[in-house]
Amino acid sequence: MLSIFDTIKDIAFKIEYAIQTEDLGYSSSENSSGEEQLKLDVKSDLIIEKAFSKTLSVKSIVSEEKEGILNLHKNGKYTVCYDPLDGSSLVDVNLSVGSIFGIYEGELKGENLVASAYIVYGPRVELVYVEKGIRPQLYGGNNQSFKRLGEICLNKKGNINASGGTQKNWEKDHKEFIDSLFKEGYRLRYSGGMVPDLHQILLKGGGLFSYPATSDRPNGKLRQLFEVIPFAFIYEQAGGEAINDKGKRLLELVPSHLHDTTPCFFGSKYEIDRLREAYGVTK
Ligand code: AHG
Repeated sequence: MLSIFDTIKDIAFKIEYAIQTEDLGYSSSENSSGEEQLKLDVKSDLIIEKAFSKTLSVKSIVSEEKEGILNLHKNGKYTVCYDPLDGSSLVDVNLSVGSIFGIYEGELKGENLVASAYIVYGPRVELVYVEKGIRPQLYGGNNQSFKRLGEICLNKKGNINASGGTQKNWEKDHKEFIDSLFKEGYRLRYSGGMVPDLHQILLKGGGLFSYPATSDRPNGKLRQLFEVIPFAFIYEQAGGEAINDKGKRLLELVPSHLHDTTPCFFGSKYEIDRLREAYGVTK
């Protein structure tokens, strides 16, 4: 596992450099979900593929930007599912973006996730890494190396409210729930990049991030294997909770297809309890 963590550190500086130096335009290709790809999406994907092709413990990789599984090392133990540059449509306006990694052992489903990491490319590069049984660890990048800055622990309640999707397509229950949090004093913080948005809640001690089912996206937008399950692991290990709109733990999801999405909610205990009440689901 250490070699995977070291590879992710190396990837962070390579993608950071690409963000600073590469063309920000669109490539001529689409990803497996039919979305236009930026040249930076393609470049970041290549950086990650190349890096893991030298990491012997990695049996296979699955990219959010590609359709299938790429087998790398026959005797490897882990499959890494990753989103190479999440929120890449924000790069042209110079907002923070990120990379997300879920490390699975065995079948690709929530309960087989053994470690997670994400990188934030903001004014500084930061990396969060967690394995089972420990709090998420925060690292700050500087001069091609990472220094541990501390561990992440969520408070029982926060004051940030971040909900994605087009509001006119929200269901009534969701709208009422989000409004009720604002009435309670919660503050809106939403950049449109899940990595910086979820990172902000983690580092400010708590709050709620939602990407609900909407009339145009009944299964939400965020992908289970590459985005949702890795962050669910980080939130739970930080002392928070992560569930779907039926009240199921996101770490219990079993995707039928590699690119399946799901409605998802990440937060501290208080906000997730409020969500259960509002959505009428039980623990
Ligand atoms: P993209 O990579 O296409 O910019 O999408 C970003 C993802 C995720 O990072 C973010 O939380 C969500 O899409 C935002 O979607 P909405 O704009 O629909 O809220």
